Amino acid sequence: MSELYSEKLIEHFRNPKNAGEIKDADVRVTVGNPVCGDVMTFTMKVRREKDKEIIEDIKFKTFGCAAAIASSDILAELAKGKTIEEAKTLSYKDIVRELGGLPPVKVHCTQMAVDGLKKLIEEYERKKKRNHC
Ligand code: FES
Repeated sequence: MSELYSEKLIEHFRNPKNAGEIKDADVRVTVGNPVCGDVMTFTMKVRREKDKEIIEDIKFKTFGCAAAIASSDILAELAKGKTIEEAKTLSYKDIVRELGGLPPVKVHCTQMAVDGLKKLIEEYERKKKRNHC
């Protein structure tokens, strides 16, 4: 495994800081990859400050490979503290860079984590609209 992955990736896989579930989350979503069968569930808590909406916390439960687990953990780290608008600009490239590179065959694992973030934000915005009606 260590030939395929960077030390940083292995550390996030072995000791993820953001694994689990937020009990009073604002949103909860699940994304999956039909090809490999892996699944990620994310929960997110958003804090409102004046006119800003800041991602306070993201937790994940991932059934998948080492790259998928490390990507979920890094995604949570990158998104926390960002506004919803800032988080929309995160891409799989940011995660790959943070992980210290990734073999091309594993990039889809990272993309799945980004899809999870996109879905969290979509669901959050949908909920917000519904509550304002
Ligand atoms: Fe399925 Fe990595 S092989 S997410």
